[in-house]
Amino acid sequence: MNIDLQLVEGLKTPLYWYDLGLLQSTLDMINDCIKGTPVRVHYAIKANCNPKLLKVIAKAGLGADCVSGREITAAINSGFPAERICYAGVGKTDRELIAGMAKGIGYFNVESIEELETLDELASDYGYKPSVAIRVNPDIDAHTHHYITTGLEENKFGIHLSMLDKAIEFAHKSPNLNLIGLHFHIGSQITIMEPFKILCEKINGLTDKYRKSGIEFKIINVGGGLGIDYEDPDSNPIPDFKTYFDTLLKNLHLSEGQELHCELGRSIVGQCGSVVSQVTYVKQGVGKKFIILDAGMNDLIRPALYGAHHKIQNLSAAGESETELYDVVGPICESADTFGKDERLPKTKRGDIIVIRSAGAYGESMASTYNIRPTAESTLR
Ligand code: LLP
Repeated sequence: MNIDLQLVEGLKTPLYWYDLGLLQSTLDMINDCIKGTPVRVHYAIKANCNPKLLKVIAKAGLGADCVSGREITAAINSGFPAERICYAGVGKTDRELIAGMAKGIGYFNVESIEELETLDELASDYGYKPSVAIRVNPDIDAHTHHYITTGLEENKFGIHLSMLDKAIEFAHKSPNLNLIGLHFHIGSQITIMEPFKILCEKINGLTDKYRKSGIEFKIINVGGGLGIDYEDPDSNPIPDFKTYFDTLLKNLHLSEGQELHCELGRSIVGQCGSVVSQVTYVKQGVGKKFIILDAGMNDLIRPALYGAHHKIQNLSAAGESETELYDVVGPICESADTFGKDERLPKTKRGDIIVIRSAGAYGESMASTYNIRPTAESTLR
């Protein structure tokens, strides 16, 4: 385990705890895997925008995938070069589009014909020719939670295949836009390779088709989505990047000089973060016991929002052999404020330190101040 009682005892809880050593090993693994390949990895800032983590990731040489004007600012302030930033999102405002051009970002992942027309107009007014990749909705089931599936026809993301010709023709012919790529993202927490293989086949079909009309894409961006092991983070602290990149490189027909871009978020930062919390009460309910933590769904919303399960451990009772079943809950006035039901844990008492593991991705970045609670501080080691 990358965290123990000694490391966190006495710190103010609830707290986000990050293991920078694990983050660095994860980044080193990615860089080893892509060395000598046409793969360029962009870190999906939305997964965790803690400035200290961003600096480490920028230093490792990754680009940044942003989804708002403020994420672009955060990326640049943390040392990501503007030209290594790509910018996706279905609702980029005029102000955000102009800011992206002003900052000279690498390219825009454009999600609709309406957005293409707007960017075209703004670019002409602004006197700047932005590079664009067209985000395609490939209608692929990523076999993940329906809230984090993005590549299905019914989702709001990307341009549907039936409208793609029109979008590509518009971008290709526009004197104000520089069409450089195709962009995809089929979903998140994908733990099998099959959806990525299907994506590659779809991409090959599209690039062949447009090559016949004389359109070559310099960049193929497959988005992110690689999952992590929430149940056993100690056995699998670093996701299987090798199999992931091999799958893409083996199945995609890349042409000479073409770059393959990935936008990984969860797989980079997920395992290096934990929520550290203290037990406020162990409450006897009717037929069950509750562990009531000082961390709530405002600190980590994934269990409440997606029914996600994170491994829960009692650091104070590490040597305790007697176990009991508990529902582990937060203090917020919502029944969804539950981190685990019927969790078998060592006998727990008031004041014990509990950690919720694998919380580095979509934890701190999705935190809120619901119930006017303060946002948890973070500590990095
Ligand atoms: N690229 C695009 C266009 C995206 O929308 C996303 C994530 C990523 C890349 C990064 O995906 P990743 O490698 O992290 O799977 N809050 C949810 C996950 C939402 C993902 C949103 N988009 C959760 O906690 O599970």
